[in-house]
Amino acid sequence: MSARGLFISIEGGEGAGKSTVMAALSEALVARGHEVVLTREPGGTPEGEAIRALLLDPGNHLLPETELLLMFASRAQLVRQCVLPALARGAAVLTDRFTDASFAYQGGGRGLDMARIAELERWAAGIKPDLTFLLDVGVAEGLARARSRGGEPDRIERERGDFFERVRATYLLRAAAEPDRFRLIDAGQPADDVRRSVLAALAGWIEASR
Ligand SMILES: Nc1ncnc2c1ncn2[C@@H]1O[C@H](COP(=O)(O)OP(=O)(O)OP(=O)(O)O)[C@@H](O)[C@H]1O
Ligand SMILES: [Mg+2]
Repeated sequence: MSARGLFISIEGGEGAGKSTVMAALSEALVARGHEVVLTREPGGTPEGEAIRALLLDPGNHLLPETELLLMFASRAQLVRQCVLPALARGAAVLTDRFTDASFAYQGGGRGLDMARIAELERWAAGIKPDLTFLLDVGVAEGLARARSRGGEPDRIERERGDFFERVRATYLLRAAAEPDRFRLIDAGQPADDVRRSVLAALAGWIEASR
């Protein structure tokens, strides 16, 4: 095995603070001397961004199966074109969402079979993050934050409250099932406290994985 970088995902519902936390994590990793690659899902490659536009356009009526397969199409492209090459040269890759989001949104939210999603994870994604931050916040609070940013809600943001409750519950179950990989962060705290919690968890994880 050649030297391998770090693969970190940031998960959570709408408006949980993922983008805010990404910036803080990126700064901390750069300060530690890492090359940092930032990406997001769906998207992250030109082809993935085109798939993202399809997925988020409120004018599209996508079946749950179509939605799931498009998420994994974007992911297959991202892993091979961006994530694996960056990890191979030793970079730290930070992604705003990864496969856990498919389990939470298409599995929990849409009700698709989790075993099918796990099968796609094995062959279309092929890798799992080394470390995953789950930013957990109440659904109403997260949606209010996302909406306070303005702009039209995208196709998925237009879902009902109970959809997002299932998403949140599924994320929490996954975090409980894989405590070594997940760091659960109370994202209902003020932004400064969230950032401090995330950076402390990162430092602890790096220390423990030496
Ligand atoms: N802990 C916090 N408390 C209050 N407001 C916050 C907190 N964290 C972020 N915000 C604000 O809430 C909004 C959403 O945050 P951010 O964009 O980081 O969330 P996100 O998870 O990336 O959202 P999305 O799912 O829409 O991409 C922003 O306006 C941000 O400044
Ligand atoms: Mg964001």
